[in-house]
Amino acid sequence: LRHLTTLENLPRATIEHLLDRALAMRDACAHGTRKLDLLAGRTVLNLFFEPSTRTRTSFELAARRLGADVVNFDIGFSSTSKGEALYDTLHTLEAMHLDAIIVRHKVSGTPDELVRHAMSAVSVINAGDGNRAHPTQGLLDVLTIRQHRPDLDALTVTICGDVKHSRVARSDVHALATLGVREIRLCGPAALMPEPAEFPQCSFYQDFDEAITGADVAIMLRLQKERMATSELPDEKAYFRSYGLDRRRLALAARGCLVMHPGPLNRDVEIASEVADGAQSRILEQVGNGVFVRMAVLAELLGR
Ligand code: CP
Repeated sequence: LRHLTTLENLPRATIEHLLDRALAMRDACAHGTRKLDLLAGRTVLNLFFEPSTRTRTSFELAARRLGADVVNFDIGFSSTSKGEALYDTLHTLEAMHLDAIIVRHKVSGTPDELVRHAMSAVSVINAGDGNRAHPTQGLLDVLTIRQHRPDLDALTVTICGDVKHSRVARSDVHALATLGVREIRLCGPAALMPEPAEFPQCSFYQDFDEAITGADVAIMLRLQKERMATSELPDEKAYFRSYGLDRRRLALAARGCLVMHPGPLNRDVEIASEVADGAQSRILEQVGNGVFVRMAVLAELLGR
């Protein structure tokens, strides 16, 4: 594996290998080896054109824990604001001898464009592009599920919210389907649902009570207001009544249903605090697993 831009069409063996490697990283960190030297002498660049708390910080921690040097590109203070084209930025940064570029961009397909235009042996890792893919989020989500429920082929997973604009939903579906999850349900208001043809692996619901009934895992998605026209914005109170995960709805799910959310949360819009902070919530475990998954991906792509 040289680049990671999507989980679509990634073989099952590769996904499982990355998940196993993430667990090995977790165990190495848990046994006191907080810093490994697998990437000593390597340089990793965080190139985020959209805001991030979890992904950017965990990539930085992951790279540092592997012994790499990390540069955080500050878009606001970069020559991007003077009109420099993306490819000129890429070639300029490559001239400084980088080993990996971790990129987040609002335009779908940007990471693959960087792969096509790169002039060096730099690895490109997608940290989220438009509504297309967020592969490391997909990996950390299936890692979190697998830790609690290794019986993936017996599971029903419900993904609810703004599926249409969600790169997380797309990467989750690709990973879950590849790993053989029994049933993947997508749920949301018609205006926020993708075309069914895009997701032949999934069943579609508009009624959240129906979609959550019997589910083993509930993945709640944020309304991606930044990708909607003002006219598309739903009324948040009405949205919560129809699509918010509260205690009553969680009781319809299978016993012990895992509650997940990629973050950032909009409390009382897509999830009630009593559920987000409740005993079934795995949200902070997802965040923790993000560091191990990103260590595994960096080690796989850059390890000598
Ligand atoms: N889940 C996720 O991508 O969060 P951030 O936007 O904070 O990185």
